[in-house]
Amino acid sequence: MNNEEMNDDHFFDQERISHSERDYEVRLRPTNFDEYIGQKKVVQNVELMSKSALKRNQAMDHILLSGPPGLGKTSLAMLTAKELGSQLHVISAPALERKGDLAAILSNLNDQDVLFIDEIHRLHITIEEILYSAMEDFKLDIVIGQGPAARTVQIDLLPFTLIGATTRAGLLSNPLRDRFMAHLNFDFYQPNDLSKIIEMNAKKLKLNVTKDARLMMGHCCRGTPRIANRILRRVRDYALVHDREVIDQEVVKIALSMLEIDDLGLDSMDRKILTVIRDYYQNGPVGIDALSATLGEDKQTIEDVYEPYLLKEGLLIRTPRGRMLSDKSIDHLN
Ligand SMILES: Nc1ncnc2c1ncn2[C@@H]1O[C@H](COP(=O)(O)OP(=O)(O)OP(=O)(O)O)[C@@H](O)[C@H]1O
Ligand SMILES: [Mg+2]
Repeated sequence: MNNEEMNDDHFFDQERISHSERDYEVRLRPTNFDEYIGQKKVVQNVELMSKSALKRNQAMDHILLSGPPGLGKTSLAMLTAKELGSQLHVISAPALERKGDLAAILSNLNDQDVLFIDEIHRLHITIEEILYSAMEDFKLDIVIGQGPAARTVQIDLLPFTLIGATTRAGLLSNPLRDRFMAHLNFDFYQPNDLSKIIEMNAKKLKLNVTKDARLMMGHCCRGTPRIANRILRRVRDYALVHDREVIDQEVVKIALSMLEIDDLGLDSMDRKILTVIRDYYQNGPVGIDALSATLGEDKQTIEDVYEPYLLKEGLLIRTPRGRMLSDKSIDHLN
C-alpha cells in the first residue's frame, strides 16, 4: 500500500468521526510540508531526521508523535513517508489481536518502509513485546511449537522506520517508549496558524472567505485543525444553501451557533463538563471516575478529547484531589 492507494479507514475513531467527515478530511489533508502549517519544532525535527536518513540511504530513526486528537499526527506521518520516498503501511493498534498479526506485517516490510501504528498506547503488552527487538535490532523472535517442544527462532527483518502515534504518551510502557529515538509532542495551534489552514482549505473547497471570518473560525476551533475543518464545512453548507457568495463573520456566527460553539470555542460537551462540576460538585474537586459516571461519558474520552483543551485554557484545574473549576470558568458559565 502506498500513500496514494491508502485506505484511511484505520485513521479514525469511528465514534468520533463519521464516514462523510472522513472523506472530507482526506480531501483536506496537507499534500506537502509547505501545506503543513505550524508545529514548527516537530516539523524541524522530522525534516532533519528524514534528510539525514536520505543522505545515509538508511531507514529513518523511529519516532513517537503524541498529542490530542486532530492536531495532525497522521497527516505528518503520511508526509514523512512521502518525503522519504518510502512505502507507508498503516495499522491501528486495537486492530492487532494476535502476535502473529504484527509479526506478519513486520516480516513483509521492504527495506526502509515506514510502518505507522496509530493509537500505539492501546497495543496489547504481549504483542508490544515483539516490537522491542524489531525496533532495536530489526530482528523478530518467533516461538514455534507448544509446551516443552517449543523453540524460538530469530528472523532478520529489513530496516524500517516505526512511527507511533498516541493521544496518551503517558500510557506507553517504558521499554517501548525508550526505543523511539525522538518523542515529538504536538501543541494546540495558535489562531493565526489555524486561520492560515482555513485559508488554504477554503481555496481547496473554492470558497470565498473574508479575513475576519477566517480569524473568527481560527479563534473558535479549540486550537485544533480538525475542528477548524468541521466549522468550515458547516459554513460552506450554510453559504451554499443561502446563496452567500462571500463568507463573512455573520455567516461564521450562524454556523458556530448551529454547532453550539461559544465565543471561547467550547462545544456543548465542554460546557456540560464544566456545568456538571459546578452544579453537582460545588465547583470541585471531583475525581475522574465520579465525573465520568455523572456525565455518562467514557473516562478515557474525557481525558483524551475534552480535558487537554480545558486545562490548557485554564478553565479546568487538576489537583491531587480531582478536577476543579477556575475563576475564568465560573465567570464564563455565568
Ligand atoms: N499542520 C497542519 N496543517 C494543515 N492542516 C492540518 C494540519 N494538521 C492537521 N490538519 C488538518 O486536520 C485534519 C486532521 O488531522 P490528522 O488526522 O492528521 O490528526 P491526528 O492528530 O492524526 O488525529 P487523531 O489523534 O484523531 O488520529 C487533517 O485532515 C488536515 O486537514
Ligand atoms: Mg490520526
